[in-house]
Amino acid sequence: MCKMTLSRWLVLAVLVLRDVFALKDVVLTIRPQTVEKSRHATLICSYDLEGASLYYVKWYRGTYEFYRYTPSEKPTTKLFPFKAINVDMNRSNSTQVVLTDIDFQLSGNFSCEVTTAEEPASTQTAVKSMLVVQLPQYPPTISVGREPLDYGDVLRANCSSPPARPPAWLKFMLNNSTVSFTPRMLPRQVQEAHWSDLSLELKLEAYHFNRGKLILRCAAEVSEIYYEEAVLELASARNPVPEKVSALDSAGPAPCHTVLLGVLFFLIIRV
Ligand SMILES: *[C@@H]1O[C@H](CO)[C@@H](O)[C@H](O)[C@H]1NC(C)=O
Ligand SMILES: *[C@@H]1O[C@H](CO)[C@@H](O)[C@H](O)[C@H]1NC(C)=O
Ligand SMILES: *[C@@H]1O[C@H](CO)[C@@H](O)[C@H](O)[C@H]1NC(C)=O
Ligand SMILES: *[C@@H]1O[C@H](CO)[C@@H](O)[C@H](O)[C@H]1NC(C)=O
Ligand SMILES: *[C@@H]1O[C@H](CO)[C@@H](O)[C@H](O)[C@H]1NC(C)=O
Ligand SMILES: *[C@@H]1O[C@H](CO)[C@@H](O)[C@H](O)[C@H]1NC(C)=O
Repeated sequence: MCKMTLSRWLVLAVLVLRDVFALKDVVLTIRPQTVEKSRHATLICSYDLEGASLYYVKWYRGTYEFYRYTPSEKPTTKLFPFKAINVDMNRSNSTQVVLTDIDFQLSGNFSCEVTTAEEPASTQTAVKSMLVVQLPQYPPTISVGREPLDYGDVLRANCSSPPARPPAWLKFMLNNSTVSFTPRMLPRQVQEAHWSDLSLELKLEAYHFNRGKLILRCAAEVSEIYYEEAVLELASARNPVPEKVSALDSAGPAPCHTVLLGVLFFLIIRV
């Protein structure tokens, strides 16, 4: 009876000790997680050794190990060459790895694996994915067909955004409401950067005009880190009369001819 209890205590003690030296909170952070091609990124592996000592930290791209930190060895860092991975050894240590001149093929999962030295050794792995992108070099541009435009006319416009990877997602907005967009299902895997083009052919209705104005905007978006707009105010055949008249009662004494014009307008409206 007493022996049983003792062995139970022993098991408990071992479990507690194990817990004392248990590795905790292994977290991998990639800064930035969406990185532009040729730039650099810092991969930070944070962990809580809980009093234990570190055996090693292994770094993987997918299943390929490219960097290892072993405090008990000289040198402490080991690099396993892999095409397209450039490690800045000067800025890499037991908790971080700096990748430079990043290429598209590095998009994907990275992981850090932490192992403690004491028996029983404990190991934990954290995974994060990195996306390598190329952003457009300049904002989108709009070209339009004939102007001025009135209700019932067909507005024809094109929007174009310079090469990007993934290609920019485009949308046209008229009076702040989206009237056309490229489908969300853009090809996910593209070998190189791609231009994005979007055409609009829209029969204009009264609600498209905002106080007689037509404001056409084209927005380009890449992977939630890039957003640029082109704005074009289109000549409209619906320039509002009230706005012009209201200009009379602003800015001090109105010149004589403006007053006369106003009176003329008033008379025309009366007729
Ligand atoms: C790393 O440091 C060494 C010595 O300080 C220096 O010669 C080398 O240029 C550095 N490398 C990089 C990539 O900064
Ligand atoms: C690793 O290097 C980074 C940047 O130089 C530094 O902030 C960090 O404290 C270093 N980590 C350790 C464990 O020395
Ligand atoms: C990347 O990691 C995530 C989460 O761990 C996993 O679901 C996904 O399948 C991995 N992708 C690849 C290509 O291994
Ligand atoms: C829009 O692009 C198409 C195809 O390239 C072209 O035929 C058309 O003339 C363009 N329209 C405008 C308004 O630029
Ligand atoms: C359109 O949206 C922009 C930005 O969201 C805002 O500044 C502008 O006042 C809006 N115009 C109209 C007519 O709603
Ligand atoms: C266009 O803008 C005007 C003024 O801001 C607004 O009253 C109207 O609802 C808008 N129409 C659309 C379709 O957004």
